[in-house]
Amino acid sequence: MVSHAVLALIEQGHQVIVLDNLVYGHREIVENLANVKLIIGDIGDKTLVRQIFKDNQIDAVMHFSAYAYVGESVNKPAKYYQNNVVATVNLLDCMIAANIKTFIFSSTCATYGIPESVPITEDMPQEPINPYGATKLMVERVLADYDVAYGLKSVIFRYFNAAGADPQGRAGENHDPETHLIPLVLEAAAGTRKDISIFGTDYPTEDGTCIRDYIHVSDLADAHLLGLDYLLAGNESNQFNLGNAKGISVKDIITTAEKVTRKSIPVCEEERRAGDPPALVGSADKAQTILGWKPKYPDAESMISHAWNWMQGCASR
Ligand code: UFG
Repeated sequence: MVSHAVLALIEQGHQVIVLDNLVYGHREIVENLANVKLIIGDIGDKTLVRQIFKDNQIDAVMHFSAYAYVGESVNKPAKYYQNNVVATVNLLDCMIAANIKTFIFSSTCATYGIPESVPITEDMPQEPINPYGATKLMVERVLADYDVAYGLKSVIFRYFNAAGADPQGRAGENHDPETHLIPLVLEAAAGTRKDISIFGTDYPTEDGTCIRDYIHVSDLADAHLLGLDYLLAGNESNQFNLGNAKGISVKDIITTAEKVTRKSIPVCEEERRAGDPPALVGSADKAQTILGWKPKYPDAESMISHAWNWMQGCASR
């Protein structure tokens, strides 16, 4: 996600410093861009962060540096609390010390746990069912307290299922290990994976498979620019869902991917994956009304087609 936000920021004329420990990041996308300085390091390294804040005139900080594998967070919670919470609080403390008071935070729909109803609005209870969601909610609470005590203004974005790739093919998904549905479905289409597993066909949904609300990465990036403008205009801290208010099942994704790629995709029906809520769909009304956010690519077909183009481009490089 960070590369998409960086591309959007520089297109709008901003100068960007990227601090990345490269555990999951990819230097090649940002290191040769004009107006972008890449610093290899960790947000938990207070000495480094203090120095960066001292050496540069910084108006705002955007945070993307979380671990985000739900299953891993259940087995290795310490890794998640250490990086997603402790290191983030270090970063916030360095911001306060340097008098930088504008913060954009990538949170998640996983903070809602299993919602009582969909679409989910921002005021619904946040009761995460895994450590990943819990770490994000903890930072949300820290931000509320830091606003009152230190005047740190934040916009919290609760992403639904980030998908797609840069429409111009400059950046796309490249996770190791890959666990997300759309890239795995496309690997099955490309033949680099034998089939796609469907985790659960007995959910209380129309076709029995899980429903998610997919949101294009470029639309997420646009929301970050709007969130930044919103805070720099002097508005109060706020929280926004970023989704399309459109529920799409696992089977729908596979059918759409077959249409986009013109390939038949072999499937393997499996047991449910632990920790998966049956349906997560977010209301996007608040971001649309307050920030004027309007997703450019709300349809799964665009997301899958951009991801497919990106994947084909990677394979030919
Ligand atoms: N799925 C399959 N087969 C696969 C992979 C996924 O059927 O091989 C299903 C999952 O069970 C789920 C849906 O496809 O129902 C989407 O799964 P993803 O792994 O792509 O995404 P998640 O919904 O699990 O995770 C996303 C974000 C997380 C966030 C979470 C909130 O990636 O960061 O939503 O639930 F925490």
